[in-house]
Amino acid sequence: MVNKYLYLNTIGCQMNVYDSEQIALRLAALGYQQTASLEKADLVIVNTCTIRAKAEQKAFSFLGRLARLKKKKPGLIAAVGGCVAQQEGDKIFKRIPYLDLVFGTQAIDRLPHLIQTIEKKRCRIVDIQQTDKPDFQEAQDHIFPTGQVSRFVTIMRGCDNFCAYCVVPYVRGRETSRHPDVILNEINQLAEAGVKEVTLLGQNVNSYGKKEGLGSFTELLWQIAQIEPLLRLRFTTSHPKDFDGELINAFRTNEKLCKHIHLPVQSGSNRVLERMNRKYTKELYLDKVAKLRDTCPEIAITSDFIVGFPGESEADFEETLDLIRTIEFDGLFAFKYSDRPNAPAAKFDAKVSDRQMKKRLQILLDLQETCTKKKNQALVGSCLSILVEGFSKRQISGDLNQPYQAVQWTGRTSTNKIVNFYRHGDSDNCEEIAPGQLVDVKIEKAYSHSLWGKPVERKGATGGLKGEKIYAA
Ligand code: SAH
Ligand code: SF4
Ligand code: F3S
Repeated sequence: MVNKYLYLNTIGCQMNVYDSEQIALRLAALGYQQTASLEKADLVIVNTCTIRAKAEQKAFSFLGRLARLKKKKPGLIAAVGGCVAQQEGDKIFKRIPYLDLVFGTQAIDRLPHLIQTIEKKRCRIVDIQQTDKPDFQEAQDHIFPTGQVSRFVTIMRGCDNFCAYCVVPYVRGRETSRHPDVILNEINQLAEAGVKEVTLLGQNVNSYGKKEGLGSFTELLWQIAQIEPLLRLRFTTSHPKDFDGELINAFRTNEKLCKHIHLPVQSGSNRVLERMNRKYTKELYLDKVAKLRDTCPEIAITSDFIVGFPGESEADFEETLDLIRTIEFDGLFAFKYSDRPNAPAAKFDAKVSDRQMKKRLQILLDLQETCTKKKNQALVGSCLSILVEGFSKRQISGDLNQPYQAVQWTGRTSTNKIVNFYRHGDSDNCEEIAPGQLVDVKIEKAYSHSLWGKPVERKGATGGLKGEKIYAA
């Protein structure tokens, strides 16, 4: 088979990261090898996001850059996939005339066929078909590259919640869960390839399997936890309205389940939450967080916020700040509200000005920064278990005869905090550490986005990834 090159640009959430991996796997079967060089590519795919206007602009600005490349190399196939493709369909052809393929969020299984057709006939294709069938992405035999510690696995697609600001239900279709056997099979293969941690993906994992009668999300977590070589399990996202006692208890009882939950609240004002169609109140959210902390005191909680939702007053915003002060999140993401096509809020009046949104966003982020630092600072002196993800080589002394002097390892705590640590030369026996290993690290310094520490002896640490070369100075 002739080797051809694929350049894949992924914009957006973890689901797009997972989808891009699926795209690469399917195209590898057609002889496409991934490249980091645009110039070398025979096929360029941009997997797009449209959650906010800025993400959509990013996709179009990348597509704009392809014009020059296409002129130089007319045989190049240019394709756009993902959420912008789903939203815009063939309208993209008008804007980007040299584009060959527009494929939607549910067309990944058909992609090899679409690309082969274009290779043969040099035609232009749009495939944005959507179905509610649950058999998506299951026929693939997964051949995974080794050397990866942590992977995403999509367990459901789409969303039925229709939050007033959100484009996801329109671009990802109706909520559909994959069968547990298919998920377990995929994770077994990942574990066999050396993966130690999986993050299960869905827009609202709490409703996993409900429509299809496939059992509950917590049951699925238990089944996955039986896969022995796997050390850790994570998931995202849980919707506060459906976050239930069964899942809360799992944080205490399921040892592989990491002690972190991302529970997007969006606003601390009941008036805004209602207009957003979130279907919970601030009180319900606070109550669930209290139960969670009662059950699992070490749990780390992160969240998403939207500032400047249409009609958000200063008083509403103050309530949001109050909620942040009360809960003391471990971290959060905050976004300026952005009008999206099809989302009902685009037609709401009383829009908040960009200047106001900017101001509110900064106040919110400053408040959280203080809290995050305080939380990280509180960990100094404690000893935490880190799943080692990777390393980089650093010059840390003035000896320029040495290309690098130390290995900086990086990993995460169960609570999803990034921890970096050094092992100096071979004197410190750095063969003991490898990606995929659990290492106990004593935390010495805290920063806004990471912690710094020193590994301490750990009895019975489990092995690293097979074939991983460990650096010794
Ligand atoms: N399913 C997840 C969210 C997925 S989108 C949930 O329900 O929480 C990720 C985040 O993007 C959302 O939590 C929200 O904070 C933000 N977001 C979504 N639409 C937005 C919009 N129109 N403007 C600004 N932020 C938005
Ligand atoms: Fe969007 Fe709401 Fe669905 Fe999350 S739950 S994806 S915010 S519609
Ligand atoms: Fe973006 Fe689509 Fe994900 S809109 S956030 S890539 S579901």
